Amino acid sequence: MQQIKLHDKTFEVFIPETEIAAIVHSMANAINDTGIKKPLFIAVMNGAFLFAADVMRKITISGSEISFIKLSSYSGAETTGTANQLIGISDDISGRNIIILEDIVDTGITLEKIISLLEKENVADIKVATLFFKPDAYTKDIHINFIGKSIPNDFVVGYGLDYDEIGRNLPHIYKLKNE
Ligand code: IMP
Repeated sequence: MQQIKLHDKTFEVFIPETEIAAIVHSMANAINDTGIKKPLFIAVMNGAFLFAADVMRKITISGSEISFIKLSSYSGAETTGTANQLIGISDDISGRNIIILEDIVDTGITLEKIISLLEKENVADIKVATLFFKPDAYTKDIHINFIGKSIPNDFVVGYGLDYDEIGRNLPHIYKLKNE
C-alpha cells in the first residue's frame, strides 16, 4: 500500500522494507568490523524495537549482550523541575563497552540525556548506532558512530516509529504527505 492514513494524517511510502533490510545489514557489518569486545547493546524503547531485533540477528561479535531502556522524566521530590532517569538498567554496567541502538536521532536532545545518564554508570566506552538521522534538525556535537540513513527533516513513521503511538507495526517507512 503506497498511502496510509494514521489518525488525522496521510503518509506515503518513503523507504521500502527491502531498503531498510539492506541498511540494517550494512550497519551490522560495520559494527562487526570494529572489533569491539563483548559489547552491551542498549536499545532505546519503544521506537528501536524492530531495528534492535533485526540488527542483532546480524551481529557476529562473540559475547554480545542486549538490554532495553526507556528514558522517562520524573518530578524531583525536592525541586519543582523535572529530571530524567533511565528505566531498564538493573545490572552493573560499569566497565562495559556500550553500543546505543536508536531508531532516529532528530534534535539529539534524547541522545544527549541518555549518554549523560550512562556516563554516570562508569561505562568504559559508548558508541551510538542510529537507523535514521536528521542532520538538518540536529543541534548537538555528539559524534554518531553508525548512521543507517540520513533523511530530510520530515516526520516519518513505521518500522518502530510512531505517530501518536500508532504506525510502529508498518514494515516500510512512511513520510507525512504534504497536502
Ligand atoms: P530528539 O530528542 O529530538 O533527537 O528526538 C528523538 C525522539 O523523537 C526519537 O527517539 C523519536 O521517538 C522521536 N522522533 C523524532 N523524529 C521522529 C519522526 O520523524 N517520527 C517519529 N518519531 C520521531
